[in-house]
Amino acid sequence: MRKSILLTSCIALVSSAATSAPAPVAAPAAQPWLKPGQPPEARAEAAVAAMTLDEKLRLIFGYSDQAYTDLAKVPDDLVSPELKAYVISHQVKGSAGFVPGVPRLGIPDQAQTDASIGVRNSLIPSTALPSSLATAASWDPEVPRAGGAVIGAEARATGHNTMLSGGANLAREPRNGRNFEYTGEDPLLAGTMAGALIDGIQSNHIVSTMKHYAVNDQETLRTSLDATISAEAMRQSDLLAFEFALERGRPGSVMCSYNLINGRWGCENDYLLNTVLKQDWGFEGFVMSDWGAVHSTADAANDGLDQFTGFCCVGDKPWFAPPAFNATLQSGAIPERRLDDMATRIVWALFASGAVDNPIRTAPVDYAANAQVSQAAAEQSLVLLKNDGNLLPLGHVKSLAVIGGNADNGVIAGGGSSDVTPVGGAVMIDQHTYLPSPPLAALQHELPRAQIAFDPGANPASAAALASKSDVAIVFVTQHDSEGSDGSLTLTANQDALVSAVAQANPRTVVVIESGGAVFMPWLAQVPAVLEAFYPGIRGGAAIARILTGKVNPSGHLPISFPASPDQFAHPAIAGAGLPDGTPAHVTYDEGAAIGYKWYDLKGYRPLFAFGHGLAYTSFAASGLTATADGRSLAARFAIRNTGRRRGKAVSQLYVAPADWQAAGWEAPKRLGAFTKTELKPGQSRIVTLVVDPRLLATYEAANDRWHIRAGTYRLLLGDASDAQMQTAEVRLPDSIWSARHPSFRPSTKSPAQ
Ligand code: BGC
Repeated sequence: MRKSILLTSCIALVSSAATSAPAPVAAPAAQPWLKPGQPPEARAEAAVAAMTLDEKLRLIFGYSDQAYTDLAKVPDDLVSPELKAYVISHQVKGSAGFVPGVPRLGIPDQAQTDASIGVRNSLIPSTALPSSLATAASWDPEVPRAGGAVIGAEARATGHNTMLSGGANLAREPRNGRNFEYTGEDPLLAGTMAGALIDGIQSNHIVSTMKHYAVNDQETLRTSLDATISAEAMRQSDLLAFEFALERGRPGSVMCSYNLINGRWGCENDYLLNTVLKQDWGFEGFVMSDWGAVHSTADAANDGLDQFTGFCCVGDKPWFAPPAFNATLQSGAIPERRLDDMATRIVWALFASGAVDNPIRTAPVDYAANAQVSQAAAEQSLVLLKNDGNLLPLGHVKSLAVIGGNADNGVIAGGGSSDVTPVGGAVMIDQHTYLPSPPLAALQHELPRAQIAFDPGANPASAAALASKSDVAIVFVTQHDSEGSDGSLTLTANQDALVSAVAQANPRTVVVIESGGAVFMPWLAQVPAVLEAFYPGIRGGAAIARILTGKVNPSGHLPISFPASPDQFAHPAIAGAGLPDGTPAHVTYDEGAAIGYKWYDLKGYRPLFAFGHGLAYTSFAASGLTATADGRSLAARFAIRNTGRRRGKAVSQLYVAPADWQAAGWEAPKRLGAFTKTELKPGQSRIVTLVVDPRLLATYEAANDRWHIRAGTYRLLLGDASDAQMQTAEVRLPDSIWSARHPSFRPSTKSPAQ
């Protein structure tokens, strides 16, 4: 095991970032677009009307952080010396990207960086929140919203104003190495949680980015894989998640993905970018490319890409570099009004988010307060999967064996562009980042009278020997996932054998899993209790200890299904596995919109743990479910009651199911229609009303670009997991048609036709 400690300072005062505030501008009277209070559309149009061609061209071409060191070597006829000097002197060092603004007109530079779990800057520490998949397990949009508010505040205080945060790809492929950056397998849950994260970030008057648009559902060969899927299936699955996220989060930008979709690159995809995103969904912001995802100039611009990002060095293809773009423009291959549109969209996002009116200013960050937000998020998100005989919460424990998972050092985090420089310093073990929140120390803190011993778990026999002498054993297992490769659901490094050995030695064994997504548990029948912690963030250890000891009542529910075995995968092998990066490859998503629990329902498979599953140290009962439909909307009403002895949070999940789902044209027997989380004291009950979005009752008809709810009887199924015993009600719905074209964003509870 290789281990090193990277120490970072807790104080973020960034000198280079101060330069990213716009230069002083002329008085608003001379530059009317700078006057707050007018619609962002009007301000953006006026600002772009005042721009020279060169100024417009600056806005559509972005540079990577590496440009800081390598841009100088790029020939002057690709990037002018003046532009190079500007980029090098204004870029926020350690961030992901930079796009020069137009200081003459008061349009700020864009300091772009990743922010899935916190602000990523290799030189500046930040608060690491639980992974997006973990916070999706809270089933409470206020959790990612609060996390987003922290990210946005830290971004602003450290000089960044455009965040690459808001992953909304569905967990179609359980092995996808980036599932931890996304928000689960269901379009409603995923879109709601991703949208809330974006909204929280943008509440700081900066821009956030919904990504990776679209059908970028595996990492293997991500830059060369062509995903085939019908428009209908896409609109009812991957795209629906993005549609909900867009409506709820209103991101200023959308990042198109590396892959091809139905034969067209994600970043030059007329259907996805122009027809769906800009026309049907009314998106007014800009489409930025993923880093290195552009393949042309005219096609990309005409098919909807507004901004090229991440140009770095000699050898990079400068598709949107000012001279290349201008030459294509002059040739007539790109209409001039298209460049105006691109610039207007970029500037619109800066006006609409408030980034122009509230220039970023570096400031100190209250990391202690932000760590509390991260801990609260984890405490709402960890999922108690199994608790036979109420082994948990740990009450009076005389001796405790803590085993494995580097629990003496910290909690693991995912790899790739979401990786942050955590406050307090990362602990690097075998090249994986551990956040400095050791569960061992947290357990010692929560159980001061218990004798707690630690065994690293490298040798199952020695771990079992320790477990056999202890009242209770807790085995920590970790599974590292990362951008750039797909994973396996089988625990690595002999950890399955470790759990089995410990469980054999002590029947009172608890397993805590820190993983990017689902894992197999061949030892499940041997252990009475399992807690899924995902990647729980900078206070993960404390949250785990507080849940294990009952200081916090668990309330997380799975945002993904846990398969029982590989036989349950929709695709036995990952397309292109084993081929060198960049090899053209192909995947056909025959399962269409039947992702996750829908696939299990369709096939009659029993997962290891179902989507929506999660236990608590109390119990809840729902009653009195009634449904009302007035032709335009469907609402359900019921009472939810805490029937146990501890305060807790119930997650009510309302599934909708046509009496004849095949006749209704659905992909699977049921869909999640609405959900809510309710905090209840023992004995307390509340009446809850949930409204089902019409798109979740409909099928998408590509020929007419519309949603269609077929007349018939629909069942409502209310429970606290997709496979749980449910209250049911029935309702008859008339035939109805809903346009897929929205004039602009609108709350999802309103009908698309309004
Ligand atoms: C990732 C994006 C990220 C970008 C910039 C790419 O490799 O796919 O998610 O935002 O890098 O860091």
